[in-house]
Amino acid sequence: MNIKLIKDGLQSSNNNVKILFVTSKMLKSHKDLKMLKKAGFHAEQDTTCFLYEKNKLFCGVETLSNDNLRSACSTAVQAVKNANYKEATVDVNNKNIQAVVEGFLLGGYEYSAYKSKKKQTKLKSIYLACEDVKALSSLFEEAVIIAEATCFTRDIVNQTPEDLNPPSFAKLAKKLAKENGLTCNVLGEKELQAEKMQSMLAVGRASRHESQLIHLTYKPKNPKRVVSLVGKGLTYDSGGLSLKPATSMVTMKMDKAGACATLGMIKAASELKLDSEVHVFIGAVENMIGGNAYKPDDVLVTRSGKTVEVRNTDAEGRLVLADVLDYAQESVQADYLFDFATLTGACMVALGSYTTGVMGHSSKLKHSISKSARVAGELTGSLPFNKHLKKLLKSGIADISNTASKPYGGAITAGLFLDNFIKEENKEKWLHFDIAGSAYTESPWDCNVYGGTGAGVRMISEFLKTLKK
Ligand code: BES
Ligand code: ZN
Ligand code: ZN
Repeated sequence: MNIKLIKDGLQSSNNNVKILFVTSKMLKSHKDLKMLKKAGFHAEQDTTCFLYEKNKLFCGVETLSNDNLRSACSTAVQAVKNANYKEATVDVNNKNIQAVVEGFLLGGYEYSAYKSKKKQTKLKSIYLACEDVKALSSLFEEAVIIAEATCFTRDIVNQTPEDLNPPSFAKLAKKLAKENGLTCNVLGEKELQAEKMQSMLAVGRASRHESQLIHLTYKPKNPKRVVSLVGKGLTYDSGGLSLKPATSMVTMKMDKAGACATLGMIKAASELKLDSEVHVFIGAVENMIGGNAYKPDDVLVTRSGKTVEVRNTDAEGRLVLADVLDYAQESVQADYLFDFATLTGACMVALGSYTTGVMGHSSKLKHSISKSARVAGELTGSLPFNKHLKKLLKSGIADISNTASKPYGGAITAGLFLDNFIKEENKEKWLHFDIAGSAYTESPWDCNVYGGTGAGVRMISEFLKTLKK
């Protein structure tokens, strides 16, 4: 399915269905009201109604806001894919074009790599019709780049842990680097030993796959600033010896979603030719069990020198990030340091399963990120740090424990754990994004379908775009 921007005036036909958005108020005075009523259509949000004799598809929207249009386009494309049309046309303008592109491309996304029979659809093209193609073309192209980077992230998240393991992750990153003119440096276990990344290495010790630290760089000609993006890349999280219950282990291939998101972000940044130098640091590790596994009661010496008491091997993401964050800060002096991780189930308890938890010390930065998220159609919620929760990470034997002594506020205590590995000069530059809830879904919502959602990619692409101005 491809998407094209065209001059308006294309007539609908038996091959080409016209998609129209209507609110219940607009419906009342609509010339097709009689027929639509007969079909039982009330223009409720995310409901659709075909008038085949007119080659029209009506989509209900609560209002014509971008959020509602994005969701409606997602419903519309799924309806058209199940019909017989080869093409669909929809009117757009400079205000809604991004939401419409995202709705169609993200809502129309399907992951069929593991299906023996691919679903057949006749739909080949979606035309976005506007008055002035020239005026909208750059907005259109940007929206397509960002939506495709989001789908790229989804594709990786959706791969099985057998196919996507730390070494194959590194291979995939190298391929992206080659295609997008990025540089890519990979550290294997020997190099990680030399870097004294004992915390990250401990987590991956019982895996048959070698742990990898992947560093990608996008360098434009005269970069205006430097951005470091760090991703949790647990290609599988069994919980380790603190083994997850069987039902909680299902979907844990998605514990690499933070890392996959950072790859989508650097892909978008390079294709949008943004003026920021972007670094991606990924800790690609598999958390398994075995005679060689790290254990509760172990004390790990992190790269920073701080020691960590392991009280739960399922709180492994923070152990990997502690070392990768330290390495990232020493490798690059960044103006912004963001990490993305499916870090805690507690984040879902706090915010529900659609919202990314945002933590950090700079209110200003949290504010501008939440604005970018809103514009990009992602949900975020700020989770506040406080010194009382910080105390819960105290350890009797090491500098700090990897789990809090009380379960309440688990997303925040995980964020506070990471804070221990942020250097003083970077405190105001750092944000931690807990995407445990937002990165993966088993039931569709908004423009997200089954599987990885690509959470973070749209938000950060939008944030980097606004820095351009
Ligand atoms: N990867 C999980 C967090 C997670 C849970 C992500 C559910 C997505 C869905 C993480 O490594 C983990 O297991 N965290 C523990 C921390 C606890 C042991 C302190 C958790 O959330 O239970
Ligand atoms: Zn875990
Ligand atoms: Zn995990």
